[in-house]
Amino acid sequence: MADRYLSLTGTAPGRFLTRRLGLPQPARLRRWSPEQPSLQGRLLHLTAGKSDLDLAPVLTFAGLDLDLVRAGSALDVGTENPVAVVLDATGVRDVDTLAEVHAALHPVVRSVAGSGRIVVLGSPPDPADHHQAAVQQGLEGFVRSLGKEIGRGRTVNLVRLTDARAAESTFRFLLSPRSAYVSGQVIEVGDGAGAGTGAGGTGAPADWGKPLAGRTALVTGAARGIGEAVATTLARDGARVVCLDVPAAEADLAAVAGRLGGVALALDITADDAGARIAGALPEGGLDVLVHNAGITRDRRLVNMPAERWSPVLDVNLASVLRTTDALLTGGTLRPGGRVVATASIAGIAGNAGQTNYAASKAGIVGLVRSLGPRALSEYGVTVNAVAPGFIETRMTAAVPLFIREAGRRMNSLAQGGLPVDVAETTAWLASPGSGAVNGQVVRVCGQSMLGA
Ligand SMILES: NC(=O)c1ccc[n+]([C@@H]2O[C@H](COP(=O)([O-])OP(=O)(O)OC[C@H]3O[C@@H](n4cnc5c(N)ncnc54)[C@H](O)[C@@H]3O)[C@@H](O)[C@H]2O)c1
Repeated sequence: MADRYLSLTGTAPGRFLTRRLGLPQPARLRRWSPEQPSLQGRLLHLTAGKSDLDLAPVLTFAGLDLDLVRAGSALDVGTENPVAVVLDATGVRDVDTLAEVHAALHPVVRSVAGSGRIVVLGSPPDPADHHQAAVQQGLEGFVRSLGKEIGRGRTVNLVRLTDARAAESTFRFLLSPRSAYVSGQVIEVGDGAGAGTGAGGTGAPADWGKPLAGRTALVTGAARGIGEAVATTLARDGARVVCLDVPAAEADLAAVAGRLGGVALALDITADDAGARIAGALPEGGLDVLVHNAGITRDRRLVNMPAERWSPVLDVNLASVLRTTDALLTGGTLRPGGRVVATASIAGIAGNAGQTNYAASKAGIVGLVRSLGPRALSEYGVTVNAVAPGFIETRMTAAVPLFIREAGRRMNSLAQGGLPVDVAETTAWLASPGSGAVNGQVVRVCGQSMLGA
């Protein structure tokens, strides 16, 4: 459903009026398009504290001119506004060096271009050093606050890492138009051990423009909405897609699969033998990317919720995810280097009145990825992550009453709803062979929603 307020604030009189009334000012976000696949312009690389990371090789990609400013040197803000800033704060170990974060960003933050990106790099908090742990945690509060005040479609995220090379796919995502609706997030990137992306590893795709070339991806709930966008984006990235949805959606499903040159699989994902049916339908027998997107709601407050409204939600959103993941993983259908991306929701993080069933199922997804991620990586070489959408413009949210819908759209740092493609782009990044060091993560695609923040 069209966001009329966003259209209004895109006109000069509308902007004047809404500013005078003190109303939110959503910026028109710059998203990926074939004509503008990357950010174009100056990437400012700043450092706070002493860092051992060698970032230059992984920050040098098409569209961005790297401008390295060494720690302690005088900062020339320059005449060309940066489209992106990477602040390496991995060496911040005490309150004095935390002040260098302020010193580095204070002079440049105003000049970052609209729809620009700020990525702060931190180190994992050290359990043996409470000073380092305190200030590294401090970066989280810093990033989340800056995300709330920066405006103009600009995003701010924190990446905790130890190995720059293992984070290349994450930089390519966060420093691009594909992450337009991801802000205020904390993403942990490991060293890639077990996933072929650690130092000296070969996880990087041969062609970053087609990272999923030669891979097979299955998307559940692919007949419409977010699932259709995910299948489309994975196909854009080179994957052979298998599109799954309920038999009642067969016509739409066939149309999506046909458009993408993929395979349609009409199947209720709650069927006991769904895992075996999926394995049997794969063109080459094996699977590289499994996207659990199918989901339903049956809202009612708990006092009014009969078991008939509880069970189907838990069955579609959680039990079937657990069952099919187990079957495809233990049966060897998911190949080493495989990726599982499940779909949570900010309702599963914040809770939502009328959604005890839905929120329980989506919080269950968070528990699943945190527990299974490390084990699946060491035993099968497969990563397990989740996306947690916020307010996304789909048929599901178009059905929400007007005032609640408007609140959902505006109550985030970007003051607008996301699009299905925003969830799809995040899924594609997690599905990339280059993302083997991103595991057990729940990444919110919510424009930094106030809910559960
Ligand atoms: N739209 C949002 O704002 C939002 C927010 C948070 C989370 N999500 C989650 O994102 C996912 C997609 O949401 P959407 O808005 O595109 O929903 P949607 O209702 O438009 O699409 C869901 C798809 O899943 C399919 N499906 C449902 N039950 C199935 C089953 N048993 N077997 C196979 N397929 C089944 C449906 O037929 C439909 O095509 C869901 O998991 C949803 O909970 C959406």
